[in-house]
Parts: sequence; C-alpha cells; structure tokens
Amino acid sequence: MPLAMLNRHGLVAGATGTGKTKTLQLIAEQLSAQGVPVFLADMKGDLSGIAAPGHPDGRVEGRAADVHQRWTATGFPAEYYALGGVGCGIPVRATRSPFGTARRSGRRRR
Ligand SMILES: Nc1ncnc2c1ncn2[C@@H]1O[C@H](COP(=O)(O)OP(=O)(O)OP(=O)(O)O)[C@@H](O)[C@H]1O
Ligand SMILES: [Mg+2]
Repeated sequence: MPLAMLNRHGLVAGATGTGKTKTLQLIAEQLSAQGVPVFLADMKGDLSGIAAPGHPDGRVEGRAADVHQRWTATGFPAEYYALGGVGCGIPVRATRSPFGTARRSGRRRR
C-alpha cells in the first residue's frame, strides 16, 4: 500500500478471527518502520506487544516460507498512555466510556 494513501479513511471488517487485528498490526508496524508515528486505541490489549520482538517458532517461519517472505522478529518503539490514569503509561484525563459505543446526540435531520 503506498504511504501516500494512508492518510485516508479505511475500514477493516470481517467475522471474528479473520485477521482484522493482525492487519492493523501489520499496517502499524510498516508505518513505524518508515518513521511514521501511529496512534492505536488498544481497548482489548491486542496491540501492546508491538513493542517487543516476537519469539520465532516453527509455525511463523513455516507461514513466512509458504508466502515466500523472510521474517525477522522485530519490536517497534512504543509509548503507552493510560486512560484515566489506570494501569501503566502516561495518564490521560479521559474515561473509557467515550471510546465505546456512543449514543447519537444533537440535531435531527429533516
Ligand atoms: N494473514 C494471516 N496469515 C495467517 N494467519 C493469520 C493471518 N492474519 C491473522 N492470522 C491469524 O488468525 C488468528 C486471528 O487473527 P486476528 O486476531 O487478527 O483476528 P480478528 O479478526 O482481529 O479476531 P477478533 O474478531 O476475535 O478480534 C490469529 O491467530 C492470527 O495469527
Ligand atoms: Mg481482533
């Protein structure tokens, strides 16, 4: 995906377990490798591991070989923020609820 296209809107959709999180991880890693900072709201804790290189095992190496790619375990620089100051990271004065489903407010359309 050309870097210049990545300032547009996008949607990654799919049934559970079809690779949405992995797709976002790959996009974030490849942007980071190009020096582009990425903000990720990691509500399920799926993405924080981006900071540390993965552990090589036969499965990952087998998959890389299947798709004719070279794979090297790599960590990427990460800073953590903590919503409401809960947990590790730089405290952010916000609660979790604004990040969840929001009820529509405001004007009615005519
Ligand atoms: N391109 C891929 N090639 C091989 N395995 C993959 C690929 N993408 C994802 N997977 C594997 O599929 C599994 C599910 O992926 P992932 O967690 O990204 O799915 P998800 O759509 O985010 O699921 P959920 O809806 O539960 O959040 C993981 O074990 C992941 O390693
Ligand atoms: Mg997911």
